[in-house]
Order: sequence, then structure tokens, then C-alpha cells
Amino acid sequence: MIQFKRLGPEDVATVRELGAREESFFPHSDEPAFWTKTQLRRWFRSDDGVCLGAFKNGRLIGFALATLHAPTGKATCENVFVAPLSRGKGIGKRLGERLLTKLLEKGARHVMCLTDENNLRSRGLHASLGYRDYGNFRWLGCTLRP
Ligand SMILES: CC(C)(COP(=O)(O)OP(=O)(O)OC[C@H]1O[C@@H](n2cnc3c(N)ncnc32)[C@H](O)[C@@H]1OP(=O)(O)O)[C@@H](O)C(=O)NCCC(=O)NCCS
Repeated sequence: MIQFKRLGPEDVATVRELGAREESFFPHSDEPAFWTKTQLRRWFRSDDGVCLGAFKNGRLIGFALATLHAPTGKATCENVFVAPLSRGKGIGKRLGERLLTKLLEKGARHVMCLTDENNLRSRGLHASLGYRDYGNFRWLGCTLRP
């Protein structure tokens, strides 16, 4: 049976390990892969964060990480991940549904996510959760502090 619960400090190392191996989280970049342990630790305890894990027999096999900007009610789903051997069994969808419920409870009005247009699994997952495709934009960024 799969259990879903809020991520805590004890999950930081596993989330980091799983996320750092997932190439679709950094498809066009040589930037350091995924979030650091420090970022994850702060995120999991932040009031702005909604970070959920999926556990099978106590082992973390999936996660969904989002933030909520309270003044505008805009939420951003940053990462949804299911371990390769557990994919295609509905776990990503259940994680995504729970994430939306939690965000709604916290006051979110709107949720956005960024996904590579070639990531058909991600696009399929988000479409099945009710996300609409807003079209193609160019993703720009600059590093303010290394
Ligand atoms: C994207 C991801 C989270 C999906 O998790 P999952 O547990 O395999 O997904 P589910 O089994 O819950 O499937 C949910 C929906 O996704 C879609 N989907 C799943 N696999 C798909 C595939 N291979 N191709 C197209 N759509 C797919 C389907 O619409 C499915 O809904 P349905 O079963 O009602 O048709 C998982 O593949 C993953 O971790 N990928 C790597 C990380 C990533 O790309 N994350 C998203 C960007 S942040």
C-alpha cells in the first residue's frame, strides 16, 4: 500500500538522491543538478512549501514539491517524481491530486508548472490533473549568487 505524507527533515537525503539522478529535471543545463540538501531542508519546513512524499513499505518512492505565493494565491509545482520501477501505476497522479488539494487548502487560486515540451509523461500527467497548456515561452534565468 502507498502512503502519502508531508516530507520532513528525515526525507531530505533521499529526495536529494532521487532527484539528482533524474535527468528530466535539468534537460538543457549544466547547472548543479536538482535542489541542494540545504534548500530542501528549508523548503520542507517553510510555510510557503507544500512538499509531499509517496512511501511504499516506509520507503520513499515519489515526491511532489510546490510553493505558494500567498499574496497572489499563485502556486508553482516545481517537481513531481516517481521512482522508475513504480511508474505507470497511478502514483504520480495520486501525488499530483493530493498536492492540488493541499494547495487549495492553503489558499492557492492558480497552479503553474514548467515542463519540457518533449516530456510526454509529464505533460500527460498534468493534463490528466486538469492543467491546461498555455503555449510555448522561452525560459530565461540569471544567477544572482552562486
Ligand atoms: C511524470 C511522472 C511523475 C508520472 O508518474 P507516474 O506515476 O508514472 O504517472 P501515473 O501512472 O500516475 O500516470 C498519470 C497520468 O500520466 C500520464 N502518463 C503516464 N505515463 C505516461 C506516458 N508514458 N506517456 C504519456 N502519458 C503518460 C497519463 O495521462 C496518466 O493518466 P492515466 O493513467 O489516467 O492515463 C513520472 O514519469 C516521473 O517521475 N518522471 C520523471 C520526472 C518528471 O518528468 N517529472 C515531471 C516534470 S516536473
